[in-house]
Amino acid sequence: MSAFETVIYEKADGIASITLNRPGQLNAYNVRMRDELFEVLGAVTDDPDAGVVILKAAGEKAFCAGADLSEFLTAPPPVFARQARFARDIWQRFINVPQPVIAALHGYVLGSGIEMSLCCDIRLCTEDARFGLPEPGLGIIPAAGGSQTLPRTIGQAAALEFLLSGRWLDAEEARRLKLVNRVVAREYLLPAAEAMARKILSYPRAAVRAAKQAVRRGLDMTLAEGLALEARLAAAARGAP
Ligand code: COA
Repeated sequence: MSAFETVIYEKADGIASITLNRPGQLNAYNVRMRDELFEVLGAVTDDPDAGVVILKAAGEKAFCAGADLSEFLTAPPPVFARQARFARDIWQRFINVPQPVIAALHGYVLGSGIEMSLCCDIRLCTEDARFGLPEPGLGIIPAAGGSQTLPRTIGQAAALEFLLSGRWLDAEEARRLKLVNRVVAREYLLPAAEAMARKILSYPRAAVRAAKQAVRRGLDMTLAEGLALEARLAAAARGAP
């Protein structure tokens, strides 16, 4: 069902699955993956049959080992600038997906791997997951939204320590910091993500989407604006079929 090279897109019973598929390179995020993800995210957004999305990755060792170092750090500056602009668009597109998105993480979750997962709404990881942000050590900063999404998820102090210290987190510490919602054994990762997806699918779709929007958009508003947004969305959800 997938015509892509670096991602696999599948859909079954209302669940859309996106699989990062460069296991030989630990699913490092390259230009091709960026272009294909951009397309897939657009397709998911417009797909009335996709009620929930699961983002996962192929191979045993990694969800994603970050940006593909053979491409991103060797490009000349103008190319890099164009890529950075495009990158902003893709992360905005990711965050704007109207369906709940569940990230199923295992093994190495580094750099843009973490950032991709932060564009998702719920994060599950395996006991062997390892989280790291190598960017400052490479002379760059997170550019897949992470400098904004990380502090919004785990708070400013924890985000800055994680980013600036270069220290990696194991699964349990990631859970304590609320970087992930839940840690599960490797064999339960996909079953747990699918069970969560099915539970969400059992609820009225309009209410699910409105709840996501209220939380996601509300976080960028003042409390008064957020309450007004909630009132509008609540009224719309009540009136929706
Ligand atoms: N970009 C491109 N290729 C990558 C990659 C990346 N970020 N991370 C891993 N790979 C490739 C390796 O080059 C290797 O390819 P090869 O088999 O053709 O030599 C393959 O994936 C396996 O990686 P390897 O380093 O052999 O695995 P390991 O278990 O020894 O180490 C890591 C795993 C994650 C510790 C190590 O691969 C690593 O440090 N990767 C870079 C992480 C990084 O700095 N990412 C950038 C974030 S901005």
